[in-house]
Parts: sequence; structure tokens; C-alpha cells
Amino acid sequence: MTIVLGIESTSHTFGVGILKHEDDKTEFLANYKSVFKPEKGKGIDPSICAQHHKDVREKVLKKALDKACISLEQVDVIAYSCGPGLPPCLLAGLELVQKISSDYNISVVPVNHCIAHIEIAKFSGGLKDSIILYVSGGNTQVIGYSEGRYRIFGETMDIGIGNAFDVFAREIGLDFPGGPKIDELSRNGKERGNYIELPYVVKGMDLSFSGIVSDAVRRWNKSDKSHKFKEDLCFSFQETVFAMLTEVAERALSHTKKNEFVLTGGVAASERLQEMLSMMCRDRGVIFYGCPREYAGDNGLMIAYAGLIQYNTGKCVIDGNKADFNPSWRTDEVDVSWI
Ligand code: ATP
Ligand code: FE2
Repeated sequence: MTIVLGIESTSHTFGVGILKHEDDKTEFLANYKSVFKPEKGKGIDPSICAQHHKDVREKVLKKALDKACISLEQVDVIAYSCGPGLPPCLLAGLELVQKISSDYNISVVPVNHCIAHIEIAKFSGGLKDSIILYVSGGNTQVIGYSEGRYRIFGETMDIGIGNAFDVFAREIGLDFPGGPKIDELSRNGKERGNYIELPYVVKGMDLSFSGIVSDAVRRWNKSDKSHKFKEDLCFSFQETVFAMLTEVAERALSHTKKNEFVLTGGVAASERLQEMLSMMCRDRGVIFYGCPREYAGDNGLMIAYAGLIQYNTGKCVIDGNKADFNPSWRTDEVDVSWI
């Protein structure tokens, strides 16, 4: 039997997940998190966010251990998100990892945050060889496995799509996180069908969102700032960026001939995005799987799960005092020895 403790702290979420693996069966025991919320009208300040993580880390850990009915003495390995992410936040997680690892003499497995999103999504959907669309605050990538690595077939050339939602939302007076609020407002806009033309920026397999944000904000500032216009603009913004994602996702499926598709990351919560992608998949005879919200957003369990499959290869395990972080660790830099 193996008990894995997973710690996530790359960005706004401080999360702890615990799982048990025995006889080829993996059981999820706990998944707790505390999410940092910046002050109204502000983005995430990395050092304030890291302070939040320092304030809550012991409490979140205790809640997860209590829920799982596990003590630290029983933990076989600690998996932690080693990057990519905000350095002060990564450090806040790493300090806890090093403390537990040294106090209880537990080895650690550094986990790539993006790979963790991919692996827990595939596992929860029972899928093997998929194209993955990973859409979150900081990341927008179309990914597929090929020859020992997760290859990035397409990605954002500037900001992540969730970040685009958050910045646009802030500029039109909505709270963080912006995605769900834009989603809500766009429903009435969609009903009216008043599409406002915005830049559509796909270059080959890559995407760009910052120009769309600037243009949408410019239109807002020049408008009468009515609620109706806000709804129409949110609808148009959402349709444009989701159509771009769907186009690139379809091309990745077409090139690779894979017949499974997984949507994950915080933005996977969007029902409209799920609808557009599942229609595209249905037309191509591809299985569509939208990762459930608990596992799609940042969480500690995905780190525990990615840690487990790496631990089971017998590689990737290091001493806690050698643990470090890598703020710019790319998905395609990881040797995927477990597939
Ligand atoms: P990462 O570190 O992987 O970049 P993250 O720190 O941004 O992730 P997530 O929880 O994966 O965290 O994603 C949060 C993002 O998801 C926010 O930008 C939020 O606006 C966006 N989001 C959440 N719900 C929706 C929705 N319904 N529609 C669009 N965006 C959404
Ligand atoms: Fe994430």
C-alpha cells in the first residue's frame, strides 16, 4: 500500500490532497484547498498571495489529514508542485514540504503542475491516449502524448485564457475571478445574438488573447456602459475566444488522429466551452470528456496522483533537502516514463 500526500501552491490555490494506492486500485481520501482572493479591482500580487499560503498551509494540511484519517507517520511519499508558477507561492509550498519531509523522514517527488492537470483528467475519465486542452488562468495549451513526452501542439503566445477573462472582467467592473461572471452575463447576450466583432487571432496552432482584451476594453470605454452592452460584449468576447480554442483543438485531433479529447483547467468549468468542444468532437466521432470541477481547477489531489504514477516508476524520487522549484518548467520538458 502507498499513501501519497500532494501539495499544490503554484498560484492562487493552496491545496493538499491525499490518496491511497493498493492492488492496482487508487482511492482518493481527501482534497482540501484555500484560494487566495485579491482585493476588489486588483490582480494577484505574488507576495501577498504567498503570505496567504503561509497563513493557511498548516490548517489545510491538518484538515486533509483529518478527513483522510491519516497521520503524517503513515505517508510514504510527498508530491509537490515544483512549477510552473509564481516563485513566492512555490516557495511557500516548498517550505512546508521540506519541513514535513525532514520531521518525518519522507522522500519527495517534484511534480510538473501542467502534467498533474493532464494526468488526473485522463484518470478520472478513464482515458488513455487523448488530445488535452488545458485552459486555466496562466496556461492555454493543446497537448498530446508522442514519443516519451507530452507535446504542445498549440498554445497562447501571450496571456492564458483565464487571465484574459480576469483582466477583461476587471476593466468592465467585475470581481475576480472574471470567467464565471462573464459566463453569467453572456447568457442574455447570447439570447439576443448581438455579436460584436472582435479580433480573432489564431496563428497556425497558436493563439493570442491580449489584443482581443485591449479591443474589448476599448469598445467598453467608448460605449454607453449600459448593462445590455456589457452582456453583448461578454457574449462576443466569450464566443470569439472559445471559437479560437475549438479551431485549434480540432486541428490537433485531425493531425494526430487521436479519438479521445479531454478538457481541463479552471476554464473547463465553462458550459459554453464544453458545448462547443463536445459538438466538434461529436461531428468527428471523437470521445469528449470534460474534467469535473473538483479535479479541473488547481488542487492538491492532482499533484498527489501525478506523484503516485511517477513514484511507481521507481524514478523521480528525491530527498526532501534536495527539493527545489522551477517557475518556468514547461510541460514538454518532462520525460514521461510512466506511459
Ligand atoms: P494555472 O496555475 O494552471 O494557470 P490557475 O491558477 O489560473 O491555473 P485554475 O483554477 O486552473 O487556476 O483556473 C482559474 C481560472 O479559470 C480563472 O482565470 C477563472 O476566471 C477561470 N474560470 C473559472 N470558471 C470559468 C468559466 N465558467 N468561464 C471561463 N473562465 C472560468
Ligand atoms: Fe492550474
